[in-house]
Amino acid sequence: MPATKAQPKEMLPIVDKPTIQYVIEEAVEAGIEDILIITGRNKRAIEDHFDRSIELELVLEQKGKHEELNKIKQISELANVFYIRQKEALGLGHAVLCARQYVGNEPFAVLLGDDVVHADVSVIGQMAEVYAQKGHSVLGVQQVGYENIHKYGAVEHDGESGSVVRVRKLTEKPSREEAKSDLAVLGRYIIDPEIFPIIESTAPGSGGEIQLTDALNTLAGQQPVWAYTFKGRRYDVGDRIGFLEATIEYALRREDLAPALNKYLEGLQKDKF
Ligand code: G1P
Repeated sequence: MPATKAQPKEMLPIVDKPTIQYVIEEAVEAGIEDILIITGRNKRAIEDHFDRSIELELVLEQKGKHEELNKIKQISELANVFYIRQKEALGLGHAVLCARQYVGNEPFAVLLGDDVVHADVSVIGQMAEVYAQKGHSVLGVQQVGYENIHKYGAVEHDGESGSVVRVRKLTEKPSREEAKSDLAVLGRYIIDPEIFPIIESTAPGSGGEIQLTDALNTLAGQQPVWAYTFKGRRYDVGDRIGFLEATIEYALRREDLAPALNKYLEGLQKDKF
């Protein structure tokens, strides 16, 4: 706030691309072709972004700006994108339940539109490989430190080491004192369809919302649920510093921007800003 007063947080740009486009591109890179975006009343800009913009295309064509034109066109051709509106903000669990008809009886991936990860291999793609080996739900996790765990779904396991561990218990946003682990679920899930009836009977939890974490905790009592420590740099773009880090680091990875930005940053340090 106030940047998200009148626009969805998923549309905040990191360098020159809205956050949610990085997320959609991660899914597409993993071979996902059909994407359902759960939106809400004030999130129309997301639908417009992934639609064609005929007027803009015409203007760019007339001006001979072919590179920009291709970039704009590619966005609407990324995947088959569908939308459902969540009519009330009743929580992530409820949002996932809105996808039930669309998903049917198959495992599905959930990517939160404001969680961005830079990785050599698409994180959801890494997780799909784990799912193929393990045959049950997989949560994308990383350690965030006990001072940060109150912002996340926390994963307890039996103390095994390795990048794939079986989930014993999940707690949504535990306090630092309550937390028994600092392994956090970071906005990436591959979930078996057995989750749907569980969400339906899940009572509101943290923040008075129907929490996906609570439903997954129930699922973990019925069948294996795995936590996979993914490889990649994850940004907390909902946090002011996290957002600035993402902006600077994504820009520094860009050949067209890195030289000028590096020069600027070096100058800043000298000026003791
Ligand atoms: C959601 C989930 C939480 C997860 C987090 C990752 O929380 O409920 O379990 O760890 O996303 O970003 P939110 O950030 O929507 O409060």
